[in-house]
Amino acid sequence: MPKKVFIKNFGCQMNVRDSEFVMGVLLENDFKKAVSINDADVILFNSCSVREHAEDRLFSNIADLGRLKKKNPDLVIGLMGCTAQNHKEGVLKKVPAIDFVCGPGNETDIPEILKDILENRCSIIATDKVNKKRPELFPKYRNAGFKALVSIGEGCDNFCSYCIVPYVRGRERSRDAKDIIREVKDLAGRGFKEITLLGQNVNSYKARKGKDFVRLLQEINGLKGIERIRFMTSHPKDASVELFKVMRDLDKVCEHLHLPIQSGSTRVLRLMNRGYSHDKYLKLADCYKKLLPEGTITTDIIVGFPSEKEKDFKKTYRLMKEVEFDSAFMFKYSPRPPAKSIKLKDDVPGEVKQGRLEALLGLQCKISQKRNEAMEGKMLEVLVDGYDEKSPYKFTGRTRTNKIVVSRGDEGLIGKFVRVNIVSSTPHALIGEIVDDKK
Ligand code: SAH
Ligand code: SF4
Ligand code: F3S
Repeated sequence: MPKKVFIKNFGCQMNVRDSEFVMGVLLENDFKKAVSINDADVILFNSCSVREHAEDRLFSNIADLGRLKKKNPDLVIGLMGCTAQNHKEGVLKKVPAIDFVCGPGNETDIPEILKDILENRCSIIATDKVNKKRPELFPKYRNAGFKALVSIGEGCDNFCSYCIVPYVRGRERSRDAKDIIREVKDLAGRGFKEITLLGQNVNSYKARKGKDFVRLLQEINGLKGIERIRFMTSHPKDASVELFKVMRDLDKVCEHLHLPIQSGSTRVLRLMNRGYSHDKYLKLADCYKKLLPEGTITTDIIVGFPSEKEKDFKKTYRLMKEVEFDSAFMFKYSPRPPAKSIKLKDDVPGEVKQGRLEALLGLQCKISQKRNEAMEGKMLEVLVDGYDEKSPYKFTGRTRTNKIVVSRGDEGLIGKFVRVNIVSSTPHALIGEIVDDKK
Protein backbone atom coordinates (compact mmCIF):
# COMPACT_ATOMS: atom_id res chain seq x y z
CA MET A 1 0.00 0.00 0.00
CA PRO A 2 1.49 3.43 -0.90
CA LYS A 3 2.09 5.57 2.19
CA LYS A 4 0.05 8.77 2.45
CA VAL A 5 1.87 12.07 3.01
CA PHE A 6 0.61 15.35 4.45
CA ILE A 7 2.77 18.50 4.25
CA LYS A 8 2.05 21.46 6.51
CA ASN A 9 3.65 24.65 5.36
CA PHE A 10 5.06 27.56 7.35
CA GLY A 11 7.01 30.45 5.84
CA CYS A 12 7.39 32.25 2.56
CA GLN A 13 6.58 31.51 -1.07
CA MET A 14 9.86 29.60 -1.39
CA ASN A 15 8.59 27.19 1.20
CA VAL A 16 5.22 26.94 -0.52
CA ARG A 17 7.07 25.97 -3.71
CA ASP A 18 9.40 23.60 -1.85
CA SER A 19 6.46 21.80 -0.21
CA GLU A 20 4.83 21.41 -3.60
CA PHE A 21 8.13 20.23 -5.08
CA VAL A 22 8.61 17.63 -2.35
CA MET A 23 5.03 16.41 -2.75
CA GLY A 24 5.74 16.08 -6.49
CA VAL A 25 8.94 14.11 -5.91
CA LEU A 26 7.11 11.84 -3.46
CA LEU A 27 4.19 11.22 -5.82
CA GLU A 28 6.71 10.15 -8.47
CA ASN A 29 8.19 7.71 -5.93
CA ASP A 30 5.09 5.69 -5.03
CA PHE A 31 3.79 7.85 -2.20
CA LYS A 32 0.26 9.28 -2.14
CA LYS A 33 -1.16 12.60 -0.99
CA ALA A 34 -3.13 12.37 2.28
CA VAL A 35 -6.43 14.22 2.37
CA SER A 36 -5.85 15.44 5.93
CA ILE A 37 -3.29 15.28 8.72
CA ASN A 38 -5.33 12.55 10.46
CA ASP A 39 -5.30 10.38 7.38
CA ALA A 40 -1.48 10.57 6.95
CA ASP A 41 1.20 7.88 7.38
CA VAL A 42 3.86 10.58 6.98
CA ILE A 43 3.60 14.20 8.20
CA LEU A 44 6.13 16.78 7.01
CA PHE A 45 6.44 20.25 8.50
CA ASN A 46 8.10 22.81 6.25
CA SER A 47 9.52 25.45 8.54
CA CYS A 48 10.57 29.12 8.60
CA SER A 49 13.24 30.73 10.79
CA VAL A 50 13.07 34.32 9.65
CA ARG A 51 11.85 35.65 13.02
CA GLU A 52 12.01 34.06 16.43
CA HIS A 53 8.25 34.21 16.61
CA ALA A 54 8.02 32.04 13.45
CA GLU A 55 10.15 29.34 15.09
CA ASP A 56 8.28 29.56 18.40
CA ARG A 57 4.99 29.16 16.59
CA LEU A 58 6.32 26.12 14.77
CA PHE A 59 7.63 24.45 17.91
CA SER A 60 4.42 25.11 19.83
CA ASN A 61 2.50 23.67 16.88
CA ILE A 62 4.52 20.48 16.85
CA ALA A 63 5.24 20.12 20.58
CA ASP A 64 2.57 17.51 21.18
CA LEU A 65 3.31 15.32 18.20
CA GLY A 66 4.04 12.50 20.65
CA ARG A 67 0.27 12.28 21.12
CA LEU A 68 -0.22 11.51 17.43
CA LYS A 69 2.48 8.85 17.62
CA LYS A 70 0.79 7.20 20.62
CA LYS A 71 -2.34 6.84 18.52
CA ASN A 72 -0.36 5.58 15.52
CA PRO A 73 3.12 4.25 16.40
CA ASP A 74 3.95 3.74 12.69
CA LEU A 75 3.47 7.43 11.91
CA VAL A 76 6.60 9.10 10.46
CA ILE A 77 7.16 12.78 11.20
CA GLY A 78 9.76 14.96 9.50
CA LEU A 79 10.88 18.55 9.78
CA MET A 80 12.11 20.18 6.57
CA GLY A 81 12.96 23.76 5.57
CA CYS A 82 14.86 26.59 7.21
CA THR A 83 14.37 25.67 10.88
CA ALA A 84 15.53 22.14 10.12
CA GLN A 85 18.73 23.61 8.68
CA ASN A 86 19.06 26.08 11.55
CA HIS A 87 18.74 23.60 14.43
CA LYS A 88 19.80 20.35 12.75
CA GLU A 89 19.93 17.50 15.31
CA GLY A 90 18.91 19.99 18.04
CA VAL A 91 15.36 19.57 16.70
CA LEU A 92 15.26 15.98 17.98
CA LYS A 93 15.98 17.24 21.51
CA LYS A 94 13.22 19.82 21.30
CA VAL A 95 10.68 17.47 19.71
CA PRO A 96 11.63 13.80 20.26
CA ALA A 97 8.69 12.55 18.17
CA ILE A 98 10.43 13.79 15.01
CA ASP A 99 11.99 11.03 12.90
CA PHE A 100 14.01 13.09 10.49
CA VAL A 101 15.32 16.58 9.89
CA CYS A 102 15.98 17.70 6.32
CA GLY A 103 17.37 21.08 5.21
CA PRO A 104 16.29 22.93 2.03
CA GLY A 105 19.34 21.63 0.14
CA ASN A 106 18.52 17.98 0.75
CA GLU A 107 14.84 17.89 -0.07
CA THR A 108 15.24 15.79 -3.23
CA ASP A 109 16.43 12.99 -0.94
CA ILE A 110 13.17 12.82 1.02
CA PRO A 111 11.77 9.72 -0.77
CA GLU A 112 14.94 7.78 0.08
CA ILE A 113 15.01 9.10 3.63
CA LEU A 114 11.42 7.98 4.09
CA LYS A 115 12.04 4.53 2.63
CA ASP A 116 14.99 4.15 5.00
CA ILE A 117 12.93 5.16 8.01
CA LEU A 118 10.00 2.97 7.05
CA GLU A 119 12.34 -0.03 6.75
CA ASN A 120 14.76 0.62 9.62
CA ARG A 121 12.98 3.05 11.98
CA CYS A 122 16.10 5.14 12.55
CA SER A 123 16.41 8.94 13.01
CA ILE A 124 18.00 10.74 10.11
CA ILE A 125 19.57 14.17 9.86
CA ALA A 126 20.06 15.46 6.30
CA THR A 127 21.40 18.99 6.43
CA ASP A 128 24.64 18.80 4.48
CA LYS A 129 23.24 20.63 1.41
CA VAL A 130 24.99 18.19 -0.94
CA ASN A 131 22.10 17.88 -3.29
CA LYS A 132 23.04 18.97 -6.79
CA LYS A 133 20.27 17.45 -8.89
CA ARG A 134 17.47 19.72 -7.83
CA PRO A 135 17.67 22.65 -10.33
CA GLU A 136 16.86 20.40 -13.31
CA LEU A 137 13.91 18.77 -11.62
CA PHE A 138 10.34 19.86 -11.88
CA PRO A 139 7.90 17.16 -10.89
CA LYS A 140 4.51 17.36 -12.60
CA TYR A 141 2.52 17.86 -9.40
CA ARG A 142 1.18 21.39 -8.76
CA ASN A 143 -1.18 22.74 -6.09
CA ALA A 144 -3.40 24.47 -8.63
CA GLY A 145 -3.88 24.23 -12.38
CA PHE A 146 -3.58 27.85 -13.46
CA LYS A 147 -1.06 29.67 -11.24
CA ALA A 148 2.44 28.36 -10.60
CA LEU A 149 5.51 29.33 -8.62
CA VAL A 150 8.80 28.83 -10.47
CA SER A 151 12.10 29.03 -8.63
CA ILE A 152 14.84 30.87 -10.54
CA GLY A 153 17.46 30.44 -7.87
CA GLU A 154 18.25 29.37 -4.35
CA GLY A 155 20.05 31.00 -1.47
CA CYS A 156 21.22 34.56 -0.95
CA ASP A 157 24.57 36.36 -0.94
CA ASN A 158 23.43 39.67 0.45
CA PHE A 159 23.91 39.00 4.14
CA CYS A 160 21.64 41.75 5.38
CA SER A 161 22.84 41.95 8.96
CA TYR A 162 19.51 40.91 10.54
CA CYS A 163 18.75 38.02 8.22
CA ILE A 164 19.15 34.29 8.74
CA VAL A 165 18.28 33.30 5.16
CA PRO A 166 21.86 33.14 3.77
CA TYR A 167 22.83 30.83 6.66
CA VAL A 168 19.95 28.40 6.22
CA ARG A 169 19.50 28.56 2.44
CA GLY A 170 23.17 28.86 1.55
CA ARG A 171 24.94 30.96 -1.05
CA GLU A 172 23.13 32.19 -4.11
CA ARG A 173 22.81 29.70 -6.96
CA SER A 174 21.01 30.90 -10.10
CA ARG A 175 19.13 28.17 -11.85
CA ASP A 176 20.06 27.55 -15.47
CA ALA A 177 17.83 29.59 -17.82
CA LYS A 178 17.18 26.55 -20.00
CA ASP A 179 15.77 24.60 -17.01
CA ILE A 180 13.54 27.55 -16.12
CA ILE A 181 12.32 27.92 -19.71
CA ARG A 182 11.69 24.17 -19.97
CA GLU A 183 9.62 24.29 -16.79
CA VAL A 184 7.62 27.34 -17.92
CA LYS A 185 6.99 25.77 -21.35
CA ASP A 186 5.77 22.62 -19.66
CA LEU A 187 3.44 24.67 -17.44
CA ALA A 188 2.12 26.62 -20.42
CA GLY A 189 1.46 23.36 -22.26
CA ARG A 190 -0.59 22.18 -19.30
CA GLY A 191 -2.80 25.28 -19.31
CA PHE A 192 -1.12 27.38 -16.62
CA LYS A 193 -1.81 31.07 -17.11
CA GLU A 194 0.24 32.84 -14.48
CA ILE A 195 3.73 32.20 -13.19
CA THR A 196 5.61 33.84 -10.34
CA LEU A 197 9.38 33.72 -10.59
CA LEU A 198 10.92 33.25 -7.15
CA GLY A 199 14.29 34.20 -5.74
CA GLN A 200 15.53 35.98 -2.61
CA ASN A 201 16.88 38.69 -4.89
CA VAL A 202 15.65 38.15 -8.44
CA ASN A 203 17.64 41.14 -9.70
CA SER A 204 20.93 39.44 -9.00
CA TYR A 205 19.92 36.45 -11.14
CA LYS A 206 22.87 35.44 -13.31
CA ALA A 207 22.91 32.38 -15.45
CA ARG A 208 25.42 31.02 -17.89
CA LYS A 209 25.87 32.85 -21.20
CA GLY A 210 25.44 36.18 -19.40
CA LYS A 211 21.70 35.90 -19.06
CA ASP A 212 20.46 38.31 -16.43
CA PHE A 213 16.99 38.76 -14.99
CA VAL A 214 15.81 41.24 -17.63
CA ARG A 215 16.91 38.85 -20.40
CA LEU A 216 15.12 36.01 -18.62
CA LEU A 217 11.90 38.03 -18.44
CA GLN A 218 12.17 38.84 -22.14
CA GLU A 219 12.59 35.19 -23.02
CA ILE A 220 9.68 34.03 -20.85
CA ASN A 221 7.48 36.81 -22.21
CA GLY A 222 7.96 35.30 -25.67
CA LEU A 223 6.56 31.89 -24.64
CA LYS A 224 3.07 31.01 -25.86
CA GLY A 225 0.35 30.25 -23.32
CA ILE A 226 1.47 32.07 -20.18
CA GLU A 227 -0.50 35.29 -19.80
CA ARG A 228 0.88 36.80 -16.62
CA ILE A 229 4.43 36.89 -15.28
CA ARG A 230 5.15 38.00 -11.72
CA PHE A 231 8.36 37.95 -9.72
CA MET A 232 9.64 38.44 -6.21
CA THR A 233 11.67 39.68 -4.43
CA SER A 234 13.46 42.70 -5.90
CA HIS A 235 16.34 44.19 -3.95
CA PRO A 236 16.69 47.99 -4.19
CA LYS A 237 20.46 47.78 -4.52
CA ASP A 238 20.08 45.74 -7.75
CA ALA A 239 16.72 46.83 -9.20
CA SER A 240 17.27 48.95 -12.28
CA VAL A 241 15.53 51.39 -14.60
CA GLU A 242 16.00 48.75 -17.28
CA LEU A 243 13.82 46.39 -15.21
CA PHE A 244 11.06 48.99 -14.89
CA LYS A 245 11.16 49.63 -18.64
CA VAL A 246 10.77 45.94 -19.28
CA MET A 247 7.85 45.86 -16.84
CA ARG A 248 6.29 48.68 -18.82
CA ASP A 249 6.98 47.22 -22.25
CA LEU A 250 6.51 43.45 -21.96
CA ASP A 251 2.82 42.65 -22.24
CA LYS A 252 2.82 39.66 -19.87
CA VAL A 253 4.95 41.11 -17.08
CA CYS A 254 2.56 42.39 -14.41
CA GLU A 255 2.77 45.95 -13.08
CA HIS A 256 3.56 45.10 -9.47
CA LEU A 257 6.89 45.65 -7.77
CA HIS A 258 7.71 44.31 -4.32
CA LEU A 259 10.67 46.43 -3.24
CA PRO A 260 11.51 46.00 0.46
CA ILE A 261 12.82 49.20 2.02
CA GLN A 262 13.33 47.87 5.60
CA SER A 263 14.06 51.35 7.00
CA GLY A 264 13.88 54.96 5.87
CA SER A 265 17.02 55.92 7.79
CA THR A 266 20.27 55.74 5.84
CA ARG A 267 22.17 55.22 9.10
CA VAL A 268 20.04 52.17 9.96
CA LEU A 269 20.17 50.91 6.37
CA ARG A 270 23.94 50.98 6.63
CA LEU A 271 23.84 48.95 9.85
CA MET A 272 21.50 46.56 8.09
CA ASN A 273 24.06 46.17 5.27
CA ARG A 274 21.39 46.89 2.68
CA GLY A 275 23.66 48.66 0.18
CA TYR A 276 21.42 51.68 -0.60
CA SER A 277 20.44 54.95 1.04
CA HIS A 278 17.10 56.62 1.79
CA ASP A 279 17.62 58.91 -1.22
CA LYS A 280 18.56 56.12 -3.60
CA TYR A 281 15.41 54.22 -2.64
CA LEU A 282 13.25 57.30 -3.14
CA LYS A 283 14.76 57.93 -6.57
CA LEU A 284 14.15 54.32 -7.55
CA ALA A 285 10.54 54.36 -6.35
CA ASP A 286 10.00 57.66 -8.13
CA CYS A 287 11.41 56.33 -11.36
CA TYR A 288 9.15 53.25 -11.12
CA LYS A 289 6.10 55.42 -10.56
CA LYS A 290 6.94 57.66 -13.50
CA LEU A 291 7.49 54.74 -15.86
CA LEU A 292 4.48 52.77 -14.60
CA PRO A 293 1.93 55.31 -13.35
CA GLU A 294 -0.74 52.59 -13.08
CA GLY A 295 1.63 50.15 -11.38
CA THR A 296 1.64 49.16 -7.71
CA ILE A 297 4.52 49.08 -5.27
CA THR A 298 4.70 47.14 -2.00
CA THR A 299 7.38 46.80 0.64
CA ASP A 300 8.74 45.19 3.83
CA ILE A 301 9.73 47.20 6.89
CA ILE A 302 11.50 46.30 10.11
CA VAL A 303 10.94 48.52 13.16
CA GLY A 304 13.13 48.58 16.25
CA PHE A 305 16.41 47.55 14.64
CA PRO A 306 19.25 47.98 17.19
CA SER A 307 19.95 51.66 17.91
CA GLU A 308 16.87 52.85 15.96
CA LYS A 309 16.06 56.27 17.46
CA GLU A 310 12.81 58.17 17.20
CA LYS A 311 14.35 60.31 14.46
CA ASP A 312 15.28 57.19 12.42
CA PHE A 313 11.76 55.92 12.82
CA LYS A 314 10.33 59.28 11.72
CA LYS A 315 12.33 58.94 8.50
CA THR A 316 10.71 55.57 7.86
CA TYR A 317 7.30 57.04 8.65
CA ARG A 318 7.84 60.01 6.33
CA LEU A 319 9.17 57.82 3.55
CA MET A 320 6.08 55.64 3.72
CA LYS A 321 3.91 58.72 3.41
CA GLU A 322 5.93 59.97 0.50
CA VAL A 323 6.09 56.73 -1.52
CA GLU A 324 2.50 55.68 -0.76
CA PHE A 325 2.96 51.93 -0.92
CA ASP A 326 -0.09 49.95 -1.95
CA SER A 327 0.59 47.61 0.94
CA ALA A 328 3.42 46.74 3.28
CA PHE A 329 4.54 43.87 5.48
CA MET A 330 5.80 45.28 8.75
CA PHE A 331 7.80 43.44 11.40
CA LYS A 332 9.38 44.03 14.79
CA TYR A 333 13.11 43.34 14.72
CA SER A 334 13.99 39.90 15.99
CA PRO A 335 17.64 38.91 16.64
CA ARG A 336 18.48 35.81 14.60
CA PRO A 337 21.82 34.20 15.38
CA PRO A 338 24.12 33.62 13.53
CA ALA A 339 23.07 36.76 11.58
CA LYS A 340 25.58 39.58 12.22
CA SER A 341 23.20 42.01 13.92
CA ILE A 342 23.24 39.89 17.09
CA LYS A 343 26.50 41.71 17.84
CA LEU A 344 24.44 44.89 18.18
CA LYS A 345 22.47 45.32 21.37
CA ASP A 346 18.74 44.70 20.86
CA ASP A 347 18.16 47.98 22.70
CA VAL A 348 14.77 49.19 21.49
CA PRO A 349 12.32 48.22 24.26
CA GLY A 350 9.48 45.86 23.31
CA GLU A 351 6.78 48.46 23.92
CA VAL A 352 8.60 51.00 21.74
CA LYS A 353 8.85 48.45 18.91
CA GLN A 354 5.15 47.72 19.36
CA GLY A 355 4.26 51.44 19.33
CA ARG A 356 6.25 52.03 16.15
CA LEU A 357 4.72 49.01 14.49
CA GLU A 358 1.21 50.19 15.34
CA ALA A 359 1.95 53.70 14.08
CA LEU A 360 3.09 52.28 10.74
CA LEU A 361 0.17 49.88 10.53
CA GLY A 362 -2.24 52.78 11.09
CA LEU A 363 -0.54 54.93 8.47
CA GLN A 364 -0.36 52.13 5.92
CA CYS A 365 -4.03 51.34 6.42
CA LYS A 366 -4.96 54.90 5.43
CA ILE A 367 -2.60 54.87 2.45
CA SER A 368 -3.89 51.49 1.25
CA GLN A 369 -7.44 52.81 1.52
CA LYS A 370 -6.53 55.87 -0.53
CA ARG A 371 -4.72 53.80 -3.17
CA ASN A 372 -7.66 51.40 -3.41
CA GLU A 373 -10.24 54.17 -3.58
CA ALA A 374 -8.40 55.49 -6.63
CA MET A 375 -9.32 52.20 -8.37
CA GLU A 376 -13.07 52.76 -7.95
CA GLY A 377 -14.86 53.19 -11.26
CA LYS A 378 -12.13 51.36 -13.19
CA MET A 379 -12.59 48.26 -15.28
CA LEU A 380 -9.88 45.74 -14.40
CA GLU A 381 -8.79 42.34 -15.63
CA VAL A 382 -9.01 39.79 -12.82
CA LEU A 383 -7.78 36.21 -12.69
CA VAL A 384 -10.24 34.40 -10.43
CA ASP A 385 -8.39 32.22 -7.93
CA GLY A 386 -10.67 31.48 -4.99
CA TYR A 387 -14.20 30.71 -4.02
CA ASP A 388 -15.70 31.02 -0.56
CA GLU A 389 -19.22 29.74 -0.13
CA LYS A 390 -19.60 31.59 3.18
CA SER A 391 -18.51 35.03 1.97
CA PRO A 392 -21.16 37.45 0.66
CA TYR A 393 -18.92 37.97 -2.38
CA LYS A 394 -18.36 34.37 -3.37
CA PHE A 395 -15.19 34.78 -5.39
CA THR A 396 -11.76 36.38 -5.05
CA GLY A 397 -9.18 37.13 -7.66
CA ARG A 398 -6.17 39.32 -8.43
CA THR A 399 -5.62 42.20 -10.79
CA ARG A 400 -2.39 42.40 -12.79
CA THR A 401 -1.20 44.84 -10.14
CA ASN A 402 -1.79 42.11 -7.51
CA LYS A 403 -4.75 43.77 -5.80
CA ILE A 404 -7.31 41.42 -4.32
CA VAL A 405 -10.75 41.75 -5.88
CA VAL A 406 -13.89 40.26 -4.35
CA SER A 407 -17.12 39.95 -6.27
CA ARG A 408 -20.22 37.86 -6.73
CA GLY A 409 -19.79 34.97 -9.11
CA ASP A 410 -19.81 31.23 -9.22
CA GLU A 411 -17.38 28.40 -8.77
CA GLY A 412 -17.03 27.83 -12.51
CA LEU A 413 -15.04 31.06 -12.84
CA ILE A 414 -12.00 29.79 -10.96
CA GLY A 415 -8.91 29.94 -13.17
CA LYS A 416 -10.63 32.28 -15.65
CA PHE A 417 -9.95 35.89 -16.57
CA VAL A 418 -12.90 38.23 -16.11
CA ARG A 419 -13.41 41.95 -16.48
CA VAL A 420 -14.58 43.57 -13.28
CA ASN A 421 -16.02 47.00 -12.66
CA ILE A 422 -14.68 48.24 -9.31
CA VAL A 423 -17.53 49.74 -7.29
CA SER A 424 -16.02 50.20 -3.83
CA SER A 425 -12.98 49.30 -1.73
CA THR A 426 -11.48 48.59 1.67
CA PRO A 427 -7.80 48.96 2.62
CA HIS A 428 -7.31 45.27 1.81
CA ALA A 429 -9.47 44.62 -1.22
CA LEU A 430 -11.39 46.02 -4.15
CA ILE A 431 -15.05 45.18 -4.42
CA GLY A 432 -16.36 44.72 -7.93
CA GLU A 433 -19.00 43.47 -10.30
CA ILE A 434 -18.11 41.10 -13.07
CA VAL A 435 -18.89 42.60 -16.43
CA ASP A 436 -17.91 39.68 -18.61
CA ASP A 437 -15.90 36.55 -18.97
CA LYS A 438 -12.86 37.88 -20.85
CA LYS A 439 -11.94 34.60 -22.58
N1 SAH B 1 14.75 38.14 0.22
C1 SAH B 1 13.64 38.89 0.59
C2 SAH B 1 12.85 38.32 1.74
C3 SAH B 1 13.51 38.13 3.02
S1 SAH B 1 12.59 37.61 4.40
C4 SAH B 1 14.10 40.31 0.79
O1 SAH B 1 15.26 40.61 0.81
O2 SAH B 1 13.25 41.16 0.88
C5 SAH B 1 11.16 38.65 4.37
C6 SAH B 1 11.19 39.83 5.25
O3 SAH B 1 11.32 39.44 6.61
C7 SAH B 1 12.33 40.79 5.04
O4 SAH B 1 12.14 41.64 3.96
C8 SAH B 1 12.37 41.54 6.35
O5 SAH B 1 11.52 42.67 6.33
C9 SAH B 1 11.83 40.52 7.35
N2 SAH B 1 12.90 40.04 8.24
C10 SAH B 1 13.97 39.31 7.91
N3 SAH B 1 14.75 39.08 9.00
C11 SAH B 1 14.14 39.70 10.05
C12 SAH B 1 14.45 39.84 11.43
N4 SAH B 1 15.55 39.32 11.95
N5 SAH B 1 13.57 40.53 12.22
C13 SAH B 1 12.45 41.06 11.69
N6 SAH B 1 12.11 40.96 10.39
C14 SAH B 1 12.95 40.29 9.56
FE1 SF4 C 1 17.76 38.18 3.78
FE2 SF4 C 1 18.75 40.35 2.69
FE3 SF4 C 1 18.96 38.01 1.41
FE4 SF4 C 1 16.58 39.19 1.65
S1 SF4 C 1 18.35 40.00 0.52
S2 SF4 C 1 17.05 37.03 2.00
S3 SF4 C 1 16.69 40.16 3.62
S4 SF4 C 1 19.94 38.55 3.35
FE1 F3S D 1 11.48 31.78 3.63
FE2 F3S D 1 11.44 31.78 6.24
FE3 F3S D 1 13.24 30.36 5.01
S1 F3S D 1 11.09 33.52 4.96
S2 F3S D 1 13.61 31.43 3.10
S3 F3S D 1 11.02 30.07 4.93
S4 F3S D 1 13.56 31.52 6.85
